[in-house]
Amino acid sequence: MGNATKKVAFITGAGQGIGEAISYRLATDGFHVAVADFNLDTATEVAKALNSKFGDNTAMPIKVDVSDREGVMKAVDEAVAHFGDLHVIVNNAGLGPQTPIETFTYEDYRKVYDVNVGGTYWGIQAAVKSFRKLGHGGKIINASSQAGHVGNPGLAVYGGTKFAIRGITQTAAKDLAPLGITVNAFCPGIVKTPMMMGIAEQTGKEAGKDTEWGLKQFSQNITLGRLSEPSDVAACVSYLAGSDSDYMTGQALIIDGGMVF
Ligand code: NAI
Repeated sequence: MGNATKKVAFITGAGQGIGEAISYRLATDGFHVAVADFNLDTATEVAKALNSKFGDNTAMPIKVDVSDREGVMKAVDEAVAHFGDLHVIVNNAGLGPQTPIETFTYEDYRKVYDVNVGGTYWGIQAAVKSFRKLGHGGKIINASSQAGHVGNPGLAVYGGTKFAIRGITQTAAKDLAPLGITVNAFCPGIVKTPMMMGIAEQTGKEAGKDTEWGLKQFSQNITLGRLSEPSDVAACVSYLAGSDSDYMTGQALIIDGGMVF
């Protein structure tokens, strides 16, 4: 068994956007948080802010490229060595470019699959290895998307990775239940993050308009009539990370203001 006094969560892509909001929310919930990101500068800023708000050693920054299997194993080991335990991994890091069918290159295709699907898979592997070593179960939470439930124009490859993540979530839930590990996914709609700003900018540019115009087009399909804040998604992850969701596994919760139903 581990020796942390609080529960420990490892969150990838935690340097900005949804991952940053999840880090903040889980720290609020009383977790130690490993703030893991490809960008160590932003991860360090987030960890610093959490430590000054919630107390020293609430958070630690870790550099990781989730598409690198060995790197993910090392980063998770580092967090366990630092905090003494691991209870939750949130495989949130992802790339979200437009992926048009006719022009998308092989290199870009590989990159999106390696980060989104590979990164989720290596995160699951690393967490299972640690949970086993620590002698207890745990919770695995993966970032899928509304685009992992229905087709979205221009997102063939990206959408494919997010469907794949739902498939991995369902399969891993069945494989890992005997170890006391639950596996669920969260599926955001259109969230105000740097990733979404990039997509809105590109959409606007293609129509000869600006980013604001691009964002407005997205809101038209949202029943609740507004874009999502990162904190809307973090609230759902807080539920999946806590004991209230103990009897849930293999699920993909949609938090999209009512786009898919
Ligand atoms: P973002 O682009 O704003 O932030 C992603 C973070 O992941 C960045 O800090 C980046 O440095 C990090 N990252 C990128 N590649 C990495 C790698 N190889 N290894 C480690 N870290 C890496 O993205 P956002 O919007 O916060 O999205 C987070 C997750 O939520 C993604 O999986 C995305 O597909 C999913 N999502 C986002 C939606 C949105 O509207 N923003 C909608 C549905 C799903």
